[in-house]
Amino acid sequence: MKYPGSSGGGPKTDDPGSGKGGRSHGDERSLVGSPRANKTTSQRHDPIEEAPALGREAARVLRLNDMGGWTKAAPELYPHQWSWDSAFIAIGLAHLDTRRAARELETLFAHQWRTGKVSHIVFNPDAPPESYFPGPDHWSCAASSPDAPPAPPYTSCLSQPPVHAIAALRIWEAARFAGEEEVSCARAFLGRIYPGLLSWHRYLMTYRDPEGSGLVTIYHPWGSGTDNSPRWDAPLEALAVGEVGPYPRYDLRHVGSPSQRPTNAEYDRYLWLVDLIKRAHRCDEATIYESHPFLIKDVLTSAILVAANEALTEISSLVGAPEDDRVLISGWMARGRRGLEGCWDRELGLCLDYDLRAEEPIRVRTVAGFAPLIAGSLSRTRLDALLRTFDSPDFCEHRGLRWPLPPSTSPEDPGFRPRSYWRGPTWPVVNWLLWWSLVRAGEVGRAERLRRTALEQLAVRGFGEYFDPFTGQLLGSDAQSWTAAVALDWLAGETLPKAGLAS
Ligand code: DGY
Repeated sequence: MKYPGSSGGGPKTDDPGSGKGGRSHGDERSLVGSPRANKTTSQRHDPIEEAPALGREAARVLRLNDMGGWTKAAPELYPHQWSWDSAFIAIGLAHLDTRRAARELETLFAHQWRTGKVSHIVFNPDAPPESYFPGPDHWSCAASSPDAPPAPPYTSCLSQPPVHAIAALRIWEAARFAGEEEVSCARAFLGRIYPGLLSWHRYLMTYRDPEGSGLVTIYHPWGSGTDNSPRWDAPLEALAVGEVGPYPRYDLRHVGSPSQRPTNAEYDRYLWLVDLIKRAHRCDEATIYESHPFLIKDVLTSAILVAANEALTEISSLVGAPEDDRVLISGWMARGRRGLEGCWDRELGLCLDYDLRAEEPIRVRTVAGFAPLIAGSLSRTRLDALLRTFDSPDFCEHRGLRWPLPPSTSPEDPGFRPRSYWRGPTWPVVNWLLWWSLVRAGEVGRAERLRRTALEQLAVRGFGEYFDPFTGQLLGSDAQSWTAAVALDWLAGETLPKAGLAS
């Protein structure tokens, strides 16, 4: 299904300097209403009052990026189907059309690898070659792996955090409020997607955790979804980078300033790692594991997997899967939670990634450190410790913040840059994950404050990819699909009874 009325991309942003601690709130506007009205900082937005218009605008963004059975992550910057973007997109679509939401996930899973891996990108064969780098040509050799799905479309051989089972369950929950027919379609969808979800999680618990630690190993920063987070600085720094040759940076055409994207030095390392992965017997997992210089236990991915396994348990009951599956999945959850507990850093009050090559934890302060909150089922002591960090000047109570929303990297961390992608900007999808986790943890008041503040940011600034935490300026792409999608999920509570995972 293609939504009617798609047209044009959103405006690009300018980039008036990037000083740490900048205080100018810049040009604040109301997203809602037509034409877009400029509003000043003194005008307050009540996102709940504006909910219907905000919801319409979010739906418009998803229509704009709709490619039929899947959704572009953004109009120009990301012209392909990204794995975790699609999962969040399905969560938003569930409130518009549960069947279209189901199709989003099914299109992605149609290109699952034989190992169970879900690729981080399924490349759109119709996207012009100069629209994105590295594109399908760069990854085409992955298709010759005996584990790869038939191509075209080509897929990358990396993966991203496994939000998909959470999304599938969200679709089911939304269908329950949509009527009999939707319920029966959603049940059939769960039956179809369940084997793919199970084999995806099995892949992560085996190929990506041969140690049985409960923690997922990534072999490329792109696999974390948080590409240039300072989490990866030390292991990237340690690489002996070989020749990667000249390459284009098409991404820089679509943002207000290069400072919003990873640097060329970072890209040299990203591309070098891709070369090594391709040389490893055409992306053979065991060979990568043996030879690769970048091998990290990623706590954010691991925690999302625990939460996704919780959703998968529920799905397995809904589809009448054998009891053995539930035993298996609950073993994975227990292993994951134990693994995360072992990564706790008492001094920082955060959970830390572990560098398997350097054999040490990565001591940086980023939102990934809240991983145990996402995994859930915490002791009161651990929950309180995480909430203290969350509410501290290291994160939401930093005095310079435009809105009390967690920056992707703590402003107190030396790696912090307020405008650079995952080095400091606030990300609506991260706010969604933390909100959802707070609700599940019973922290309903704190969750509600976070939801309202995150919606206010979007009502004032638009459906940006990420935002400068100090000025609130929209950065990266405008009309970012997953941002619109999480807004729809936040707004659904305004019109629907509390449902599903968040209840
Ligand atoms: C990008 O191009 O920025 C993506 O995050 C890589 O997957």
